[in-house]
Amino acid sequence: MYRYAAFVLLLASGIAVQLSHGVEVRVTDSEDKLCIYANVMVNFSVSYEVSGNKTETAEIELPSKVTTNGSDCSSTSSMLKINFGEGHSWSVNFTINGSNYEADSITFAYNLGDKSLFPNATSNDTIPVIVTPEISGVVKDTCYSCKSSDTIESKMVNQTLWNVLIQAFVSNNSKSENITSCAADVPVTPAPPTTHAPTAAPTTKTTPAPVPTTTPTPTLPPPSVGNYSVKRDENSTACLLAEFGLRIGVKQGEKYQEMNFDPNGTSVTGKCGDNSSDLVVTSNTMTIMLTFTNDTKKFRLHALNITGKTSSGAVFSEANTNLSLWEAAVGASYMCNKEQNYTITGALTLFTFNLRVQPFGVKKGVFSTAEECFLDSDLSFLVPIAVGVALSFLIVLVLISYLIGRRKSRTGYQSV
Ligand SMILES: *[C@@H]1O[C@H](CO)[C@@H](O)[C@H](O)[C@H]1NC(C)=O
Ligand SMILES: *[C@@H]1O[C@H](CO)[C@@H](O)[C@H](O)[C@H]1NC(C)=O
Ligand SMILES: *[C@@H]1O[C@H](CO)[C@@H](O)[C@H](O)[C@H]1NC(C)=O
Ligand SMILES: *[C@@H]1O[C@H](CO)[C@@H](O)[C@H](O)[C@H]1NC(C)=O
Ligand SMILES: *[C@@H]1O[C@H](CO)[C@@H](O)[C@H](O)[C@H]1NC(C)=O
Ligand SMILES: *[C@@H]1O[C@H](CO)[C@@H](O)[C@H](O)[C@H]1NC(C)=O
Ligand SMILES: *[C@@H]1O[C@H](CO)[C@@H](O)[C@H](O)[C@H]1NC(C)=O
Ligand SMILES: *[C@@H]1O[C@H](CO)[C@@H](O)[C@H](O)[C@H]1NC(C)=O
Ligand SMILES: *[C@@H]1O[C@H](CO)[C@@H](O)[C@H](O)[C@H]1NC(C)=O
Ligand SMILES: *[C@@H]1O[C@H](CO)[C@@H](O)[C@H](O)[C@H]1NC(C)=O
Ligand SMILES: *[C@@H]1O[C@H](CO)[C@@H](O)[C@H](O)[C@H]1NC(C)=O
Ligand SMILES: *[C@@H]1O[C@H](CO)[C@@H](O)[C@H](O)[C@H]1NC(C)=O
Repeated sequence: MYRYAAFVLLLASGIAVQLSHGVEVRVTDSEDKLCIYANVMVNFSVSYEVSGNKTETAEIELPSKVTTNGSDCSSTSSMLKINFGEGHSWSVNFTINGSNYEADSITFAYNLGDKSLFPNATSNDTIPVIVTPEISGVVKDTCYSCKSSDTIESKMVNQTLWNVLIQAFVSNNSKSENITSCAADVPVTPAPPTTHAPTAAPTTKTTPAPVPTTTPTPTLPPPSVGNYSVKRDENSTACLLAEFGLRIGVKQGEKYQEMNFDPNGTSVTGKCGDNSSDLVVTSNTMTIMLTFTNDTKKFRLHALNITGKTSSGAVFSEANTNLSLWEAAVGASYMCNKEQNYTITGALTLFTFNLRVQPFGVKKGVFSTAEECFLDSDLSFLVPIAVGVALSFLIVLVLISYLIGRRKSRTGYQSV
């Protein structure tokens, strides 16, 4: 009884803490129905110019006193605009993407004329900064939840978001109780034991998580997805584009270890050729070199060389220069969102997540049409059906031969 009361108390104080800290807003549409709900915590770090040719950094917290004037809802796109202080605003654009929705961009506009936040600023301008958040694949009629903190960096502004709970395209005039969690939150909560979390995209939790059955090794969180590009020279657009989350498995003697490749703070080099292109990404623990070849119509990943250090400090270097992976037509891109694994050498396994590459024929610096891997395609659902059909066919065959056999033996008896 006491324990129960303590639990309730804990629960209540937990809720109170969350409510008292986050900035909670509700946007209604033209019919006065709730269309966007948000409870967020945001910190801004803004660097600005002061006299004497110096820069200062202002640390700003999203205050609790805000308005949502200028927010807008339609059935396919919505905007949440949070206004605060002397002419500052923080806006998020949402769009529908199939049965999901996503946040396409966040615009933070800050007014340097507000001398309480930006003392001694030389300018009075309001400066908009547009960034792309990683809020996608949110299932419709669920809230996007991300308790983990996420810092979005841009040239002059860093935005740190945490304890985020947002629902756009609200139906039935009420916030959903169902949650789509961000990838960063997933390893914290006991997620259902899927065969590895398949993507870096958020996972949806609609039912209470079942008790994990088998956890032989601590599973790594899905690796973050990095964007890499190579240019011919500094003034041209990208000639090679790549986007992937990467994990490698390394065997050294008896020891097998898996490591995520951290795209944060990587350096990218490479070259684009007619017949061969290279991408080299270096993080502080690994260097990955990918060589793609173009044989007239198709490209493929031909060579992979990974050198690095394991967490215990042991150095490894594994390469295969005779691969034929990620094949697609020259002028198209290769895409595979599902988790894939490849045996590169006896000691090296490569796991890819949300993979998309285009090493040749990039136009205007953006990916061309994607050729998707089989697992992603709509046809992969046919595999179990095909197996089922084959099995039932076999059963029918056995049945027929049994019937024929019985008939033969019966006529056999009669003729004797
Ligand atoms: C946000 O800013 C406040 C005040 O500057 C600070 O106390 C807090 O630690 C910051 N939180 C994060 C997650 O950066
Ligand atoms: C201001 O700094 C820039 C480089 O940071 C320098 O090129 C410029 O001469 C400086 N101007 C003055 C007035 O000090
Ligand atoms: C900024 O605005 C203040 C008051 O409106 C004005 O006195 C000042 O000259 C302005 N500064 C600039 C750089 O425009
Ligand atoms: C943003 O974060 C990066 C990395 O932590 C830091 O180097 C940079 O100075 C920050 N910028 C601002 C405006 O705070
Ligand atoms: C949450 O998801 C479950 C299962 O998909 C559904 O039955 C239920 O109606 C949903 N609840 C809300 C509030 O959307
Ligand atoms: C890039 O453009 C700048 C100015 O537009 C020029 O000075 C520079 O030489 C160009 N660099 C190359 C590699 O073409
Ligand atoms: C990237 O790395 C810097 C320092 O190396 C760290 O401060 C920052 O939080 C990292 N950002 C992400 C998104 O992990
Ligand atoms: C691919 O190679 C063929 C000849 O081998 C060449 O004609 C074509 O231009 C190459 N494609 C690109 C995008 O370099
Ligand atoms: C690319 O390959 C084609 C055909 O194999 C060849 O004719 C051409 O010289 C090669 N180009 C380069 C730059 O190596
Ligand atoms: C792989 O890269 C390492 C380091 O750059 C180099 O020493 C090694 O020779 C390369 N291996 C192959 C097969 O190219
Ligand atoms: C490369 O792979 C092909 C088939 O996968 C094989 O026939 C060939 O011998 C291999 N070449 C080398 C140098 O390993
Ligand atoms: C590699 O993928 C296959 C299916 O594509 C899966 O059965 C296997 O368990 C995976 N291997 C590892 C080490 O995850």
